Amino acid sequence: MNTLSILVLHGPNLNLLGQREPGVYGSTSLAEIDQQLEQASRRLNAKVSPLQSNHEGVLIDAIQAAPEQHQGILINAAAYTHTSVALRDAIAAVPIPTVEVHLSNIYRREEFRHHSLIAPVVVGQISGFGPHSYYLGLQALIYHLNHA
Ligand code: DQA
Repeated sequence: MNTLSILVLHGPNLNLLGQREPGVYGSTSLAEIDQQLEQASRRLNAKVSPLQSNHEGVLIDAIQAAPEQHQGILINAAAYTHTSVALRDAIAAVPIPTVEVHLSNIYRREEFRHHSLIAPVVVGQISGFGPHSYYLGLQALIYHLNHA
């Protein structure tokens, strides 16, 4: 089987993981999450390319360009999950599958977090397992790519 290339997108404020509301998001930094994903991806015969941005347009540009280099997208769209029609449209526009992840369980939190605008255009969503959500999402995306 060929090595799969996965674009990993982290949305706004996720650069502050580890310091940001540790009671909600834990103490693991984004660099540690990316490192763990990189190790996991090798075991899954894949390679990950992580990108964090606080800017909607940067995330959209990366999604639009993704099919040139990647077979799938793993995204924590953070607050844009709940607000960005543009991000949803970008995900819907590209011919590669996306899996959505969240560290926290968005359905156990404030009501405005209960609705994901991107959920209808992704393969599936993993929410609530802390940094492990990313690993579960990567596994799910790779399973999907290998069995689609
Ligand atoms: C988040 C949940 C979002 O509601 C929030 O805006 C985030 C992080 C999560 O990973 O739990 O920034 O996507």
